[in-house]
Parts: sequence; structure tokens; C-alpha cells
Amino acid sequence: MTQDTGSSFHQMWRELLPLGRHPDSGGYRRFAWTGTDGECRAWFEDQARSRGLAHEVDRNGNQWAWLGDPAGGDAVVTGSHLDSVPDGGAFDGPLGVVSAFAALDELRGRQARFTRPLGIVNFGDEEGARFGLACVGSRLTAGQLTREQAHRLTDGDGVTLPRAMEGAGHDPDAIGPDPERLARIGAFVELHVEQGRALDLSGDRVGIASAIWPHGRWRFDFRGEANHAGTTRLADRRDPMLSYAETVLAARREAELAGAVATFGKIAVEPNGVNAIPSLVRGWLDSRAEDQSSLDTVVGGIEKAARQYADAHGIDLDVVRESFTPVVEFDHALRDELARILGTDTGLTVPVLGTGAGHDAGILSGSIPTAMLFVRNPTGVSHSPAESASEDDCVAGVLALADVLEGLACR
Ligand code: GLV
Ligand code: MN
Ligand code: MN
Repeated sequence: MTQDTGSSFHQMWRELLPLGRHPDSGGYRRFAWTGTDGECRAWFEDQARSRGLAHEVDRNGNQWAWLGDPAGGDAVVTGSHLDSVPDGGAFDGPLGVVSAFAALDELRGRQARFTRPLGIVNFGDEEGARFGLACVGSRLTAGQLTREQAHRLTDGDGVTLPRAMEGAGHDPDAIGPDPERLARIGAFVELHVEQGRALDLSGDRVGIASAIWPHGRWRFDFRGEANHAGTTRLADRRDPMLSYAETVLAARREAELAGAVATFGKIAVEPNGVNAIPSLVRGWLDSRAEDQSSLDTVVGGIEKAARQYADAHGIDLDVVRESFTPVVEFDHALRDELARILGTDTGLTVPVLGTGAGHDAGILSGSIPTAMLFVRNPTGVSHSPAESASEDDCVAGVLALADVLEGLACR
């Protein structure tokens, strides 16, 4: 490690830490195209400019910092995202961006000579916390989300994505597939905090990703009849909350049977009054499984159960798939190259792990060779203020990323 790498990491980490942290929960609320998102973006631009990197925002709102001219092609890109889930942790996303700048500092300290352009990226709206769809920036770039579809996305306050983009000074009519940009990239490596305990259990600081489970989000709308909570006999009610509650239990059962996961983590109720029977309960299901057929079985089973419960209570049910990401198998050649680079330095075998979490690297894997590095998370907790990684492990992640970038971009 060059002398300043640890301190460069810690200084950036300290600067970023207060942005968007809620004083009560201690969690982060960094949502796409809000003022807080703007602060995170300004931080990114400062980091780029203070290192003499060319800064640009692409048509889809993703931010890039370049060393060397990307027009040269075959660029090596690293980075992640700065947005968060509601009350998220400090590491999911920012660790990959801060580590990217710190790895560049490390390589400059080593006087590495770059033979390929190096890019650092902050992908917009990875978590989809505001508009409900994850990885909007990378999906648009990769052509997995059209401009028309993106223009229909709406947040919980009824603000559409184009209006939110405009409000933040970005032209929403320019968004769409960006194959020219992707054609200039030879490899994308995303470093991320692990969102499980595999590295803690194996005793390793850093691992390499093998695959991402197929996953998706489904919206269940249960519609009944609003009525008085005090005067309506139980027998006369059409209460959608009952079918919703039974469906939550069915989701747990189906997931257990298939060795998968299924979560109703977000709900909207109308009219949302303590003394009113709801007219609508809208629940969002997130489900993931190791393979496609298990996922189909789980979601099919949940929907079938929901329809039976809805019928039994006189409830109308609509189920809409809002997003889906098929299984991702990361590029084998790039993955082997990462293992070789990291193994050569340490003489160790670096663990190779699958994950149930979604990432921009997964979205881009259909267009360009991508790989991921994971940094140990001692509790495995993620999407929560309790998410963590030790300082030593973060620095080990920076050094591993620096080795990888040196191996790929300084040959
Ligand atoms: C993103 O972190 C996801 O897996 O939902
Ligand atoms: Mn996340
Ligand atoms: Mn993430």
C-alpha cells in the first residue's frame, strides 16, 4: 500500500458520510434526483476534478470521471452507485465509488502507467427507491428500459421521472440506449460490500462474484370496499387487508418450500384511516431464487394463493410484474483474470460467491464483460443502518481493486 491510500479512503468516506443521513434513524435517504442526490453528485464531481479527471454526465444521468480519452476504446471502468434504499446503510453503493477513487490514488502512488482509459462511474438510481424500478441508469444505457417506459415511472407523490429529472437540471428527452458508450468499455468491475456472511464465515476480506440470482418486483392490488370500522358488521365487509395478510403468509410458505426468498416490504393503503376499512391495499413483492424455475414456482404459488384469498373475501386482485432481471452469470474470462491477479499477489485462492442482490454490473453483463469484488460484512446486514465493514477490510478492498485495475489497465 502506498502511504496515503488509507487516508485518502478515510477522508472521502468522512466527507460523504453526513450526506443524506437521517438524524433519527441514522439511515440514508439518498433518492434519485432529489437535493440529497444532487449533493452526492456534487461530491463525485469534486473528487473527479480534484484528481484532474474529465467529468461528464451521460444522457441517462450517470456520472463518469475519466483518466485518458474514452474515445480510445477498450476502457476499464469501475464504480457503483451513491443512492440508497429508504434508511439504507452507508456502504451499499458508496463503498464501490469511494474505493474506485482511492484505488486510482493508490495506483498513482505506485506510478502505474495506464495503457487503457480508466473510468469511474456513479450509476443513477440503482436502488429504485423513489420510482420503484431498480438500476434505471444502467438499464437505460443498456437498452433494457425504453424512454417511453422510463417516462411513465412515477414516485409516491405523483411526480414523474421526467419531471424529477428536469427539476434537477437534466434533460429527460435525451434518455435512452447508449450503445456507443458501452462499445468503448472493455471491462466493468464493481466493488460492493457483501450483503451476506459468506466472507465472514470463510475468514476472507475480499471475494469475487460468480452469479446474481434472478429477481423481480410484483405489485399486488387488492381492491375491496371502504366502510366504517365501527358500524360495519364483520360479515358485511369486503376488507382487502385480510387477503393481503394471508398472501404475506403464503409468500413465506412458498419461499421456504422452494429454498428461495420472498418479501412484501412496501405497502400502500387507501384511504389509510385508523377507523376506515381499506378500499385498497397495494403490496409490493420482491422475490429471488437461485434459478428461474424456482422463482416461477414461488411467484406462481403466491399469486394462486392470493387469488383464492381474494375470492373468499369478495376482493378484486390485479398482479403486475413491475421489473425483472434474469439470472446473471458474470463473464468467466474476466472473473478468472481477477482471481489470477489477486491470487498472484497473495498466493491465496479468492472465494467466488453468488448473491441474491441486484447490481448495475448485472444489468451491464448482457452488453459488456463485467465482474464484481465483494468486501467482507461482519454481520451480513444490508439495506439497513446497521450495514457495516471494518476499516481494515475497506482498505483491503481498495488494494484488491487497485491490483485488479493495474492488472487490467496497465498491461
Ligand atoms: C439492490 O440492492 C437489490 O438487490 O434490490
Ligand atoms: Mn442495495
Ligand atoms: Mn448496491
